[in-house]
Amino acid sequence: MQTSVTTIERFILDQEDRYPEATGELSNLLYDIALAGKIIAAAIRRAGIANILGSAEAQNVQGEEQQKLDVLANETIKNCLSHTGRVCVMGSEEEEDIIPVPQEFEAGKYAVLFDPLDGSSNIDVNCAVGTIFSIYRRVSLEGRGTVADVLQPGVRQVAAGYVMYGSSTMMVYTTGQGVHGFTLDPTIGEFLLCAPRIVTPRVGRYYSVNESNFGRWERGVQLAVRGLHGDRPDEIRGKNSRYIGSLVADFHRNLIAGGIFMYPADTKNTRGKLRLLYEAAPMAFLAEQAEGSATDGMNRILDIQPAHLHQRTPLVIGSRHDVGYVADTLRRMQIRTSGAYTASVL
Ligand code: AHG
Ligand code: MN
Ligand code: MN
Repeated sequence: MQTSVTTIERFILDQEDRYPEATGELSNLLYDIALAGKIIAAAIRRAGIANILGSAEAQNVQGEEQQKLDVLANETIKNCLSHTGRVCVMGSEEEEDIIPVPQEFEAGKYAVLFDPLDGSSNIDVNCAVGTIFSIYRRVSLEGRGTVADVLQPGVRQVAAGYVMYGSSTMMVYTTGQGVHGFTLDPTIGEFLLCAPRIVTPRVGRYYSVNESNFGRWERGVQLAVRGLHGDRPDEIRGKNSRYIGSLVADFHRNLIAGGIFMYPADTKNTRGKLRLLYEAAPMAFLAEQAEGSATDGMNRILDIQPAHLHQRTPLVIGSRHDVGYVADTLRRMQIRTSGAYTASVL
């Protein structure tokens, strides 16, 4: 049995030791998120069982409806972050407005954005889901925190990551010093370092996109995806297809094995489907730190200045070569059609 392990707590503290000016607050904030991840993981693991038990007791007990897991995940994260004095304001996929920390708690120097449960349609079919988070230093000078604290371009993130609830639970994060992965050992309740300094392959094996939207994409996107199929071998080698429908799980597989994930705009989702602040930007920070890249098709995700908390963006992310191929294809098409939107089927 291995007796020397690195817990996430020790790893975070060791990294921080290299910066004498660090106060330890960001480390503790990451640790708060790890705790929320453990609580959510436990709830997800029990979800099926809770249903079985719930239906058996339905007639006698309170009659309370089973709380939806994305609501539960949202409450869990808020509870783990509100009282610590490290956060001034939060933003969540599950809530319309920003969430300043309640008056009774001290307001700290960080703003945190999160997608509490990503891929939640996969819960009922027992497939991988995740929690995505993004952390900024506040820009407001005092008080509870404002909308300006959460509307910052991704390039200003001080940390980002996700917890994936898959066949095992993993936490993957970056503070701008590479991407590191930890697996939860449920027997001791600790995240243990399993993948220090993840570097994604420059050329990927997989492409991941919801092809049922093919007919609604603009022509450049259609061409690029045809290239990924292997229809344009002079431009790019064909890839294998993988798509789960959970951004966290699709991104994680491609990060490790190499690949490209795309959610382009289409005639139904004219600005794309995914959210900039708590889906695209944190994943883009991770991708770049792992030597991959992330664009909205042509422009760097991390440079986008957000205007709204729930703003959407097209997303093309993963292995650098493949993301570059898509951008080149779109640029060529744009020149040919001089920028006109063409949603025609090839
Ligand atoms: P969420 O469950 O947080 O609403 O996110 C779902 C997202 C994302 O995880 C995934 O990449 C995408 O929706 C899948 O969309 P399609 O079902 O349209 O392919
Ligand atoms: Mn999501
Ligand atoms: Mn969600």
